[in-house]
Amino acid sequence: MGISRAQPPRRSRGAVPIRVHTLVRGQEDEELVALLKAHNPEDYTLRYWEWYWRTSTEVLLATDRSGTAVATCRWCLQPDQSAWIASIRVHPSLRGRGIGRALTAQAMARAHERGIATARLLTESFNAAMNTMAGQVGMEVCSWVSVWLAEVRALSATSLHDPSRPLEGAREALRLLETSPLVQATAGLVCGWYVYHKPTVAWVESATKGGRLRIGASGAVWLEAETKRGTDRVLSVQPVVWSGGLPTEALQRAHAIGCVELHLLLPAGHKRDLTLLGAGFSLSPWASLAAIYQGRTSHADVVG
Ligand SMILES: CC(C)(COP(=O)(O)OP(=O)(O)OC[C@H]1O[C@@H](n2cnc3c(N)ncnc32)[C@H](O)[C@@H]1OP(=O)(O)O)[C@@H](O)C(=O)NCCC(=O)NCCS
Repeated sequence: MGISRAQPPRRSRGAVPIRVHTLVRGQEDEELVALLKAHNPEDYTLRYWEWYWRTSTEVLLATDRSGTAVATCRWCLQPDQSAWIASIRVHPSLRGRGIGRALTAQAMARAHERGIATARLLTESFNAAMNTMAGQVGMEVCSWVSVWLAEVRALSATSLHDPSRPLEGAREALRLLETSPLVQATAGLVCGWYVYHKPTVAWVESATKGGRLRIGASGAVWLEAETKRGTDRVLSVQPVVWSGGLPTEALQRAHAIGCVELHLLLPAGHKRDLTLLGAGFSLSPWASLAAIYQGRTSHADVVG
């Protein structure tokens, strides 16, 4: 997803004081896009622009003393009333100077102001700066996850039917989610691009109604979410009840609804990893081993 493995320099110069404000779509797009492109011209957020804005509660822009844009991030209110902090980007020339930490603390403080007690974020294990920074804003790892990818095109023409049907009954669905070791191990649910929240009753009712919890012919149960990459459709699947048929059934399902790529999310080091390799899945280059951090929000001045 366009995340560079190059690490920013450790702080060698003084901290850069920032001012943070909320962006309004269409007003400062140029500054935002320039920042994202400076990070990586292929930044995935640029390809998922509609979704980026639609799912954000606030998109934040940090400026330095001269008013120059130096960093951005966004946060999204989740159905369990937690804040998901994402898409943190500091201008490459200013990394390692305390900006990322200050901006993340600001995002948490803004969530706190709205009465939100918990914040979460996800980062790859190799991202030393993010892992350190998450600890500094009071977060701790609550789960390790891996995302597996498969090209749906690779399916043979003989296996193109949808093998799944919606799981009926919100109460049964909630029971399955609450007792699933897979869901417990991933600290919550995937909804779209790896955004975690706990399964609330209202959310499960709406997911069941919307047919997002599905049962396959093999008895496998999964939660799915569809996202767009440009005009391509991508299906994200989180197994709830694992059966050996799940990888193939999820691929068939993705194909039947016109998705070109399938993302399968599992706790890291899951014992079924070999099954997935055999079914044509490979570990994602951007979340092969990712940490989900969780922490309590507080006022900005409390966070170091
Ligand atoms: C990750 C990122 C947001 C961090 O922001 P930053 O402004 O560079 O980081 P900070 O200066 O606030 O650093 C916070 C702490 O992280 C640690 N850190 C920073 N760079 C580091 C590095 N290269 N290696 C190890 N630790 C590092 C330092 O301990 C620092 O604390 P200190 O100043 O007390 O030493 C920023 O580097 C960035 O935009 N990276 C590319 C995009 C990205 O990876 N985004 C996150 C996607 S999940």
